[in-house]
Amino acid sequence: MLTSQRKFVMPYTKWVFYLDSRFIRLLIPLVLFFMFFSLNSSPLSAFTSLYPVRQFLFNNLPFHTRTKNDPGWKDELLRSKMAVCLVGGARRFEITGPSIIQMILKQYPNSDLFLHSPLDSDAFKFSLLKSAPNIAAVRIFHPQPLLENESYARVLTAHNSPNGIQGLLQYFNLVEGCLRMIKSHEQKNQFTYEWILRTRVDGYWNAPLGPENFIRGKYLVPPGSSYGGLNDRLGIGDHRTSKVALSRLSLVPYLDSVGFAALNSESAFKAQLTTQNVTYITKRLPFCVVSDRKYDFPPGRFGVPVAALSSPGPLSGAKCRPCKPVCQGMCVENVMESVEKSWSWTEWEDGALELCDAHDDWENGWEKIFDRVVGKKLAKARKMIHSMKMKDCVKDFNELRKRTAHWSAPPVDEICSLGLSRI
Ligand SMILES: *[C@@H]1O[C@H](CO)[C@@H](O)[C@H](O)[C@H]1NC(C)=O
Ligand SMILES: *[C@@H]1O[C@H](CO)[C@@H](O)[C@H](O)[C@H]1NC(C)=O
Repeated sequence: MLTSQRKFVMPYTKWVFYLDSRFIRLLIPLVLFFMFFSLNSSPLSAFTSLYPVRQFLFNNLPFHTRTKNDPGWKDELLRSKMAVCLVGGARRFEITGPSIIQMILKQYPNSDLFLHSPLDSDAFKFSLLKSAPNIAAVRIFHPQPLLENESYARVLTAHNSPNGIQGLLQYFNLVEGCLRMIKSHEQKNQFTYEWILRTRVDGYWNAPLGPENFIRGKYLVPPGSSYGGLNDRLGIGDHRTSKVALSRLSLVPYLDSVGFAALNSESAFKAQLTTQNVTYITKRLPFCVVSDRKYDFPPGRFGVPVAALSSPGPLSGAKCRPCKPVCQGMCVENVMESVEKSWSWTEWEDGALELCDAHDDWENGWEKIFDRVVGKKLAKARKMIHSMKMKDCVKDFNELRKRTAHWSAPPVDEICSLGLSRI
């Protein structure tokens, strides 16, 4: 941990030569701040507490390329209308949900949550959202096959998509459905959101989402995991850019008309932005996508590296699982140099990444590993879901429903009983 602290700080010493008086004034509290956290208890809390330090440095360096020069940018964001769109199946939401609430929703308590998810036996885990600050709309639906016509068949490829073209269409529909929910909420309430943040239910966040990721006129995506296009595991933009970025299904016929063919999700996403003149920008973000899938280790050129959920990060949406890392430092460097840069590669510098051997199921004892990484508070939700009874689920879901402005879902009994026995 000490070495990683030094890594964060050393490069900034050269800034000393460029200091302006404003920065000198900030330096003293900064040093005190840093000392306070270096002395602070366990290695884990030392890591998490580095983020405020980094954020502080980032926000106050005189020549850093910030979106806005005024330090009140976060305050301005806190006053603006912001929609957070969460899509996907609940799968491991007991692991990811509490981190999303803490690192996104509670950082921007003005934001409204929109959840769009298919009904399955894990949907009961969404009961955890009862502690989210504001919930605008929840839509949990019985999945139906979507029509596949020639436009879709020409533009999209089933290659590398576990459920073929239908899987891609389902995913695009989830994303665009969230945009429809947002539009409907806007119409009903006579306002428009200034910002829309789109992310996934299966994202695990290990640090807060910073205000520097909101950039007017540009669409922000994470670097890496780009599979020949653009990383589509998260996006942040203003109303105009987000409208384009989230119109994943309805822009396919247009891509067809201008001659695009055989695209995967990421390359379709890139084509969609570029053809609509939306400029994108990449920034590293502190989340990974928790996956139960198995991948060869070490990954080949087009294989998928699976990060340890305990990696310091930022992991920018790379796949991860809780594991004892089998590969760190030089090993990561060797592996990542053999992985194709335009495909599953992800940034690994500064010890950000540690790798799992993910060729098999999650290892025995992953729960203990996870609980140790996230600490007591976040581990509580995992334990609660693990031992949840039907009546707790119904109670929590009803609470969630009461707090939600627009509710569209099967009966709460049905959602809960799909995943829990009726005791
Ligand atoms: C396929 O369906 C979409 C959505 O209904 C439509 O916009 C598009 O024109 C259709 N394409 C063809 C070739 O029928
Ligand atoms: C994008 O920009 C090009 C060149 O300026 C222009 O021809 C085109 O109509 C624009 N497309 C859209 C969707 O705005």
